[in-house]
This record gives sequence, structure tokens and C-alpha cells, in this order.
Amino acid sequence: MKTQYVWLDGGIIPLEKATVPLLTHSLHYGSAVFEGIRFYNTGHGPAVFRLHDHIARLFFSAKTMGMRIPFSQKTIEQAILALIKKNGLTSGYIRPLVYYGEKMGLSPTDAPLHVAIACWPWGKYLTKETVAVKISSFMRVHPRTSVMTAKISGNYANSVLASLEAHREGYDEALFLDYKGNIAEGPGENIFFVKGKTVVTPPEGSILPGITRNSLMAIAKDLGYTIKEQTIKPKDLKKFDEAFFTGTAVEVNGIGKIDDVIFNKGKEGQITKHIRETYAQIVSGALPRYKKWLAYIQ
Ligand SMILES: Cc1ncc(COP(=O)(O)O)c(C=O)c1O
Repeated sequence: MKTQYVWLDGGIIPLEKATVPLLTHSLHYGSAVFEGIRFYNTGHGPAVFRLHDHIARLFFSAKTMGMRIPFSQKTIEQAILALIKKNGLTSGYIRPLVYYGEKMGLSPTDAPLHVAIACWPWGKYLTKETVAVKISSFMRVHPRTSVMTAKISGNYANSVLASLEAHREGYDEALFLDYKGNIAEGPGENIFFVKGKTVVTPPEGSILPGITRNSLMAIAKDLGYTIKEQTIKPKDLKKFDEAFFTGTAVEVNGIGKIDDVIFNKGKEGQITKHIRETYAQIVSGALPRYKKWLAYIQ
């Protein structure tokens, strides 16, 4: 990983000095919370996409885990901008992580709390223009099993199991159904479908309401498409022309097939392409209307 420095508990230190003790609570019980954020090269230097919204979600996630972060949201945002600058990076991925330190036993009360930030260059997450997707035999975490609106590390054991299964069976990515049998989301992505000029996505409930999903809904509307949140069953898949994933890591990525349902002959659809290209312009600062979503590194 090409990164030299990380931010830990209030200061920037070399990566090799940022180690965790073996008996770290969050390592054993999945009690950490985290964010995934991207920054992009723009005409005015690097800029972080929707930094404020990601940090607001980090603090929300922390609250669900009983964590009181001893820094303000503003301090964390500024630490991220300073860390990117210190590492001399122009584009990449940012991983803030809040975790309970040394303490065994499930209750984290009295465990020390740590806040870490790392960033590194990270290219495309899914490396194909369209991906082959398998509906997972694992169900998405039930909304009453955890807090689905929070990015809690423990929720990701479900994602890791589904990813392993999909890759083992020769697919590029997994897709979860929720406990009602409706299409929910990917292991680290939200999903959209296209029918005519209408863009459809599953409603909140059993998904992480992604910040990219939220951006996409605004962009699709601005581009003149109708946008609908609607429950979708696997048997409904056949009626859609196109499908794509969204997320900070995947950005916008076409889906060629889900199990045996093929979209647009397996190629990226026209509307997916339109939205993907617009998103790429927005994150690189080319569309002034969306500048409010960018935090520039001075
Ligand atoms: C399970 C899951 N769903 C959806 C997303 C997309 O969220 P965002 O667009 O905020 O990155 C992510 C990634 O963070 C995720 O892990």
C-alpha cells in the first residue's frame, strides 16, 4: 500500500508506528465503525467527495456503538485534508476507523477509544466495465440484527461471506436479498436498475443508504430521468434494460448479468454510461453546479 503516514488519536505518525495490541476489542468482536471516502484530482488540486456527509455518518455510526469520539467532526475533516497533503497524494481512498482498544469481554465500557485515518491511492474497485453478479445464498443482515444505517465493522462479516461465495463460483460480485426476499444491495454497493427513462433502486430498510446512492438520485433527476425507490423481487429482474452498482469504492459500475438474467447483452447500457460519465465529471470538479460536494485540499 503506497502510503507513508496515518493519523492516529490526534496526530500524524508513520504507518509502521500505527500498530494495535492483540487483545483489541474491535479486532475480536467487530465493534469498530468506519468510513470509505474517495478524493480526486481536479483542476484545482485534490478534492474529497462529500467529506462532510461521510464524517457525519461516521459520528452517527460511532454513536450506535456507544462511542464518544473525543474530536469534533470539523477536526476529523481537517485531519483528513492534512493527511492527504502530508502523503503527497492526488487521488485515492480514505479510511477513517473508530475502534475500541485493549479490553476483552463483550461490553466495551471502559475500553479505550481510538480514532485512526489512513489514505492510499486506489484505482477501480471492480475492474470490468460490466460485472457478473450472483444472488447470494446469504441473506442481508436483518434490520433488527444490527443497525443497517451505520457502517459497523461486524456487519461486514456478512459481506465477506457473500463475496467469498460469489468469487468461488466464478462471479465478480454478490447481491443480497433481504429477509423479505427483495433485492437489497451488494456487499459494499447499492444497486440501481433502468427501465426506459426510469431509474429504480430498492428503498431504505435493509441497505446502507449510500452517499453515492444519494448523489446518484440527485444526478439522475438533474439529467431528466425519473427516479423511484421501489421493492424489487428477483423475478422482476427480467423487465429491466440496465443495472448498475454505486458506492464510494465502485463509483458507478455496470452490471452485465445477475444469475442468468442478462442486461443489455452484457454491455454497459446507455443510461448507465450517461450517469457514470456525469459522476466522473462531478467528482473531478468539472461541473460547477456540484462544487458543494467537493472539499479542496489547500
Ligand atoms: C454495504 C454497503 N452498501 C452500500 C455502500 C455504498 O455506500 P457509499 O455510497 O456511502 O459509499 C457501501 C459502501 O460504503 C456498503 O458497504
